[in-house]
Amino acid sequence: MVDRTQPLRQARPEDNGDLVGLLRRCPQGTRLIIAQDRSPDFFLRARAYRQSAIWVADAAQGGLAATATAALKGVRLGGTASLAAYVFDVAVDQAHRKQGLARELLAESERWARSAGASILYAHVLRGNAASAALFAAAGYEPIRTLRAFLMPLGRRASRAESAGDWRAAGEDDWEGVAALLAETYSKHELRPEPDGTLRDHWCRLPGLVPEDVRVRGLPARPDAVAAVWNYGPVAASLPVRLPAGIRIAGAACRALSLPSLPRLGEASRYAILLGAATRPGEPAERRSAIRAALRRAAALGLMSAITMVDPADPIVAALRGLLRFSDRYQLMVKELEPGATKPLERGVIYVDPVDL
Ligand SMILES: CC(C)(COP(=O)(O)OP(=O)(O)OC[C@H]1O[C@@H](n2cnc3c(N)ncnc32)[C@H](O)[C@@H]1OP(=O)(O)O)[C@@H](O)C(=O)NCCC(=O)NCCS
Repeated sequence: MVDRTQPLRQARPEDNGDLVGLLRRCPQGTRLIIAQDRSPDFFLRARAYRQSAIWVADAAQGGLAATATAALKGVRLGGTASLAAYVFDVAVDQAHRKQGLARELLAESERWARSAGASILYAHVLRGNAASAALFAAAGYEPIRTLRAFLMPLGRRASRAESAGDWRAAGEDDWEGVAALLAETYSKHELRPEPDGTLRDHWCRLPGLVPEDVRVRGLPARPDAVAAVWNYGPVAASLPVRLPAGIRIAGAACRALSLPSLPRLGEASRYAILLGAATRPGEPAERRSAIRAALRRAAALGLMSAITMVDPADPIVAALRGLLRFSDRYQLMVKELEPGATKPLERGVIYVDPVDL
């Protein structure tokens, strides 16, 4: 039973163990079912944002029945600087489902976002997650775009080749050029973040990211390419709860042949998020070489895979072709808080912020 004498409340540091446990017990997916392991520190995930709120519902018998997080970020929408709220980590324990808890958590997130001045709320819902899709739709969110998520397994071979090419760690002098290159690459994308402060401040605030993971190519202070990965290891590990037979069989074959490893049932694996891969010129082959440099770096960090999520209309899709990858789909669900705020999203190419993954 949920303790309805208690209203929802903001999470406190002492909820950490219960929050980690709750998220682990609420996996998502259909054929491939994955849980998130946020140990040792659930709160790290939200620290990537300038402001966030984690709500919880207490269970009458102790522990937590449900949680959800909302985070605020500056974004560009139709050429205008706006405030958006991203809703994630919505989880309701099995015993407490279908009692309106998630609906309450979304309503609380919305009140918070409105009072902060956000013009939209958005969330990513995995294909096949009917409960979640219905939940967001019932709360007034609309499906705006189907996004493609890619998981790219990493291998020992890739890690041995870490020093290949003329990539180097970004130095102090390179950051301005890196920011300019990314701004140029994504100048027309909708929903791209507008961080307060520099790109360096923004990225180096991400728990687990070290400046050496931002690789550049070109003359000092004049990079013509950037390849950046975020070691997501400190923030989360993925924990497969169910794997389709194809991945189980392919995984066994890969292990036997020392090829890049695939997720294994019940085994938590730490992964990287592709933060950026941009080149001048931006031809697919050029960008593919940047993505490869980022993957080599992730492999050298001892991570098992790297993930990215993109709008199918994003030119980077062509660069991802030819790389070993598995894909899935997510629905971008958006609710406008200011009339007309979602219009630019319907037309434009969406920037899927790696920080939201
Ligand atoms: C999705 C989830 C959060 C829903 O939590 P919940 O507390 O059971 O949801 P609520 O009781 O507040 O339901 C609100 C609305 O969502 C929809 N909904 C919820 N569960 C549903 C289900 N199993 N099937 C279809 N619709 C469902 C309904 O529209 C419902 O309104 P109704 O009760 O008037 O029909 C919960 O199932 C869960 O934790 N799932 C695993 C983790 C997850 O998928 N999180 C979302 C990530 S994006």
